[in-house]
Amino acid sequence: MTLPRWSDAQGLAGRLLAALALVVLAGGLTAWLVAGAVGPAVFHDHMIEAGLHEETPAVLHAEEAFRSSSALALTIALSASVLASLAVSLFLTRRIASSLRTLATAATRVASGQFDARVASPRLGSEFEQLAHAFNDMADRLRESDALRQRLLSDVAHEVRTPVAVLNAYLEAVEDGVESLSAETVAVLRDQGARLTRLATDLASVTRAERGDLALVLQSATAAEIVERARAAAQEHYAGRGVVLDVDVESGLPAVTVDVDRIGQVLGNLLENALRHTPAPGRVLVSATRADGEEVCLAVTDTGEGIDPEHLAHIFERFYRVDTARDRHHGGSGIGLAIVRAIVTAHGGSVTASSQGAGTGTRFEVHLPVRSRAHR
Ligand SMILES: Nc1ncnc2c1ncn2[C@@H]1O[C@H](COP(=O)(O)OP(=O)(O)OP(=O)(O)O)[C@@H](O)[C@H]1O
Ligand SMILES: [Mg+2]
Repeated sequence: MTLPRWSDAQGLAGRLLAALALVVLAGGLTAWLVAGAVGPAVFHDHMIEAGLHEETPAVLHAEEAFRSSSALALTIALSASVLASLAVSLFLTRRIASSLRTLATAATRVASGQFDARVASPRLGSEFEQLAHAFNDMADRLRESDALRQRLLSDVAHEVRTPVAVLNAYLEAVEDGVESLSAETVAVLRDQGARLTRLATDLASVTRAERGDLALVLQSATAAEIVERARAAAQEHYAGRGVVLDVDVESGLPAVTVDVDRIGQVLGNLLENALRHTPAPGRVLVSATRADGEEVCLAVTDTGEGIDPEHLAHIFERFYRVDTARDRHHGGSGIGLAIVRAIVTAHGGSVTASSQGAGTGTRFEVHLPVRSRAHR
């Protein structure tokens, strides 16, 4: 155990009082010395200049009166200063100490997980105002991130529970001889296993990307190459569902410096979503155009279900699905767009979604800077 240093053991009141006492002492001592050394001599000179003779009883008396009145005045002034500094230090100490105590209590509450603790304005000047503001801001952020953590945990638990329940039910049925291990049963088991694997991979990707921990392998690529790769990967899937997949790339676009695989993942996710939400005979267009501010815009536009404005602001959040039951039935766990946003942000770009509402189709735009602003 380390012993507290003397300076640590003193409270704020002790320190402030010691500082003020030092000032009063120095001021008083100086005034006393100066008054004692200079005052009587100057007074004496003035008496002589006024024509009075030295050593006369009147002069001696007047000088004595000057000395004692000076001493009395200094004593009264010093006592008043000591009393004033005592009062000031007590007043200031009480106000500062009570503000600090409130802050310490609130900090202790936050540390114990009560993120609703806030401090009121201390009314002690801008520095204290800043401190209170910064504290309340910190508590707000902690509360948000705690709520997010809790929601995330319950979402993950929920996502894992469904496939695991299906797997268990099938395995039990096979064990009890109710179900045979037919190709169909194996396909269901595989499907649920694949869903769990995908969930784990997606969660790892989004966590890494949001932590700014994605290892981007940057290379120069043209928009035409990027779009063509995405089209080729999705083409077969689209043909199988009877949805047309078109491509339109503006000529003369500058190359962009990106991680081609990651941007492929972005377009892949957007194309998968578009296909999921566009019934046949629909059309999905992947386009590339030049955008303001030295950027290239990659867009995926579909003629499908569209998204209501109330949901648009949330679809990039982890696990957010517009229609939870229906979207889960499609096989989605609501992480795709969170991954899209994280990857695009890691490239220094931005992604937006727009839709005129249900039944009017949706357009996703990915803006990528021509000169790389990727966080590496
Ligand atoms: N093109 C689209 N048209 C209509 N709704 C869409 C479209 N793209 C996304 N959405 C809505 O946004 C939600 C979030 O999309 P996101 O890609 O994050 O999740 P998901 O596709 O449901 O699951 P995952 O991508 O993890 O498989 C979707 O559930 C869907 O409701
Ligand atoms: Mg998706």
